[in-house]
Amino acid sequence: MKYSVVKTILNKIYTSRVPDPGDLEFVLSLRDPEEIREVFTFADKIREKFCGKGIALRGIIEFSNYCFRRCFYCGINKDNSKIKRYRMSRKEILDTVGRLVSCRIKTVVLQSGEDAGIDAAWLEDVILSIKSRFDIAVTLSVGERENEDYRLWRRAGAERYLLKIETSNEKLYSSMHPGMDFRHRIGCLNALKSLGYQTGSGIIVGLPGQDLKTIARDILFFKKRDFDMIGIGPFIPHQNTCFTDKPGGDAGLALKTLALTRIVTRNAHLPATTALGSLDRDYRPEGLACGANVLMPNFTPLPYRKLYEIYPQKRCVSEAPGACGTCMEKMAKGLGRFVDYSRADSLKKRDQFTAHS
Ligand code: 5AD
Ligand code: FES
Repeated sequence: MKYSVVKTILNKIYTSRVPDPGDLEFVLSLRDPEEIREVFTFADKIREKFCGKGIALRGIIEFSNYCFRRCFYCGINKDNSKIKRYRMSRKEILDTVGRLVSCRIKTVVLQSGEDAGIDAAWLEDVILSIKSRFDIAVTLSVGERENEDYRLWRRAGAERYLLKIETSNEKLYSSMHPGMDFRHRIGCLNALKSLGYQTGSGIIVGLPGQDLKTIARDILFFKKRDFDMIGIGPFIPHQNTCFTDKPGGDAGLALKTLALTRIVTRNAHLPATTALGSLDRDYRPEGLACGANVLMPNFTPLPYRKLYEIYPQKRCVSEAPGACGTCMEKMAKGLGRFVDYSRADSLKKRDQFTAHS
């Protein structure tokens, strides 16, 4: 009997244009393993209906760990003087993209800290070089920049941009992002969308001070803004941050958040994030079984990879580049799925994806 109650609520959430935050909170608070299973199965069916069985791959290159921000949770924040900083050269990036292409991957994610040393024209040149050599989609994830920079990079051929909101609660956001402005970040997301980027956002689950109500609002935020992709990962405390003594995020809660996000957003691309793979064990297979349809193998060259330590015990810090291909295939097979080697563009129907304005 109690199981059908969960099913009824899930159906209500799925069919509502604006789901009731109380219903989302109820699902997030479920503790009974059978009931949680029902949520995951429901989300898995929605994933199958709207995204199919393919698992899309995004090869990530973390090309600079310089950052002038001071996010309280992040291991590469400016105040961490214990890490060696690096910035990859244009040639190193292009060589790495070559390796990723030889693994049949068709999306590269260029990610960095908020690095004032990244000149807009330099990154434009990197994008142009990638585009002229390889048939591959370019996703940028370099934080808040001037609209002019976003425009320049879009014109150079970058199709996608990731900018996580981290939490959609303005007060909570302000409490852990000194010197940053929530409204400005929303402005960046708006600008990216209007420039025709396939836009991604996301949150960290288990941030200190975040409660279930906040997460329910985050899920509504995703639905309202109709993002093309959404990354959800658990908070992992880092020893060189002021959040070092805070409890880490719970894998179960991160998975429930992922499942609900699938149910409300239907066809958004949702990765089983690296953070989900970096807890006491690898929860990415569970993520793929409760809504996720994307994996992000790490192609950052080895000497740099361990320096991009946004949180400790990050997955795949020592595997040889390319080893990820076999690992992804294995994971997909174990789930009765397959690796999708296409570009896997946004599943949202919008005309501007092809426009270069
Ligand atoms: N735990 C989990 N995720 C984190 N991120 C940064 N620091 C942490 C942490 N300690 C996530 C943020 C950021 C992405 C690159 O990594 O969501 O946007
Ligand atoms: Fe670098 Fe937050 S610490 S953007």
